Amino acid sequence: MKEDKFYANDLAEIIITEEELQERIKELAAEITACYKPDEELVMVGILRGAVLFMADLARHINLPVIFDFMDVSSYGKGTYSSGTVRIIKDLEENIEGRHVLIVEDILDTGKTLKHVIAMLETRRPASIKIVTLLDKPERRVIKHLNVDFNGFEIPDKFVVGYGLDYAEKYRNLPFIAVLKEELYS
Ligand code: IMP
Ligand code: MG
Repeated sequence: MKEDKFYANDLAEIIITEEELQERIKELAAEITACYKPDEELVMVGILRGAVLFMADLARHINLPVIFDFMDVSSYGKGTYSSGTVRIIKDLEENIEGRHVLIVEDILDTGKTLKHVIAMLETRRPASIKIVTLLDKPERRVIKHLNVDFNGFEIPDKFVVGYGLDYAEKYRNLPFIAVLKEELYS
């Protein structure tokens, strides 16, 4: 890690490099494109704020007409793990009835956030709902029957930051995924 970087003393290790992220994102975009008819319109629903960087890079490689929308369901405060309660802070702007929806999430952890988002969006009768998540921590799953259609990387049960993911709103702008030093939050 370069010593002149603001995060140089905060990270234990980089687990996914910028190049690995970008390469995998292109593959995911190709998989997603192949799942829809040519010219089928896709409403990408980014879960704020963590999915912003991922959605921006992913969308550039999806060869379909894409609409951007966002939802904010954060409930984690400054802690590192889920409290279990999911609040809708910002709802969609688009009417998704009869449309194809792709939920874009940064990380699938317990699964509680996605479970709530899916249940809520299903009541609006979209033509389809698919889910793409950049990272998955399978060891931490509490919601067992969660069907994720596209996943970038499986990672171990460690608290990670970067590329959209934060600790207390910090580190979202790192271009890679790194493990935060435990002494920073324990
Ligand atoms: P879930 O509801 O437990 O699946 O949690 C998903 C949300 O928790 C993500 O959208 C992140 O905001 C947050 N989260 C879970 N694990 C991490 C992590 O390792 N680093 C940063 N945020 C995380
Ligand atoms: Mg999040």
